Amino acid sequence: MSRPSKLTVVGAGAVGSSVAYAAMIRGAARHIALYDIAEEKTRAEVLDLAHGAKFVGATEITGGSDIAVTANSDVVVITAGAKQKPGQTRIELAATNARIMGSLMEQLLEVSPEAIYVIVSNPCDVLTMLAHEASGLPAERLFASGTTLDSSRLRWEIARRAGVSASSVHAMIVGEHGDTEFPLWSGARIGTVPILDWTVEGERVFDEATLEQIAVDVRDAAYTVIQGKGATNYAIGLSSSRIVEAILSDEAAILPVAPVLSGIHGLDGVALSVPCVVDRAGAHPIAQAPFSAHEQELLHRSAASLHEVAAGLRG
Ligand code: 2OP
Repeated sequence: MSRPSKLTVVGAGAVGSSVAYAAMIRGAARHIALYDIAEEKTRAEVLDLAHGAKFVGATEITGGSDIAVTANSDVVVITAGAKQKPGQTRIELAATNARIMGSLMEQLLEVSPEAIYVIVSNPCDVLTMLAHEASGLPAERLFASGTTLDSSRLRWEIARRAGVSASSVHAMIVGEHGDTEFPLWSGARIGTVPILDWTVEGERVFDEATLEQIAVDVRDAAYTVIQGKGATNYAIGLSSSRIVEAILSDEAAILPVAPVLSGIHGLDGVALSVPCVVDRAGAHPIAQAPFSAHEQELLHRSAASLHEVAAGLRG
């Protein structure tokens, strides 16, 4: 009998414990391990999750502060590191979290050399670029959760205005998971209706000004939530679990995640979110995903910003 699929979540803070909780409820993995240097906190999170075992499908929950608890993982989701304070940008976390990521990747790879690595810690795109260079892993096996979360925010903003289910909105945020992200409006549909053609009681709902407001609200969503509760955790937990499901079920789901690109959309050596097929082998960018000329320009602007931050960290 094959070994049960193992997800390791690194970091037992609000984000990491929410990823584990969401994965448990959605049955994303049969074995979920939580790893953090804070032994007592991690053990408490593991216990609290395990106490709910009766209410979810068969899931083994383990964890602790010894890197051995992460051994033989199929997927490793990394959430460890400093988190944004109110008003702080994700990029401002780069230097601190790059140091943490460097040390973690070395230890994790020793005991899970075959795993797929998903970087959630921020700035997730830049940390992915550095981890890719340091680890030598193929690009498809180490990528950032990127704008899968932002795309869920976008779909919610559209759905509530259109009066439809968010699952019937097909729209993506691409680029940096951060201040230079943008919606791919050229491909946005509600059901099969192009978003600009959608009407409610005969009236068009989305004009250029509304689309611009939605883009700003999505880009700034994390700042709003962090201002109010100190962190974001539920939506990043669910979106990360969604990525884990696509990997472990070999789903070939199309999600906006951020592997380091090589020649896709004219970009090289940068990790930012573009539509990718996500399956058991990892994330595979879709070369033929259509971008308008303006969207290409915004994508290259986002890439330039990330290249600059990564260059600063390489010293
Ligand atoms: C978010 O967008 C903070 O990157 C995290 O919720």
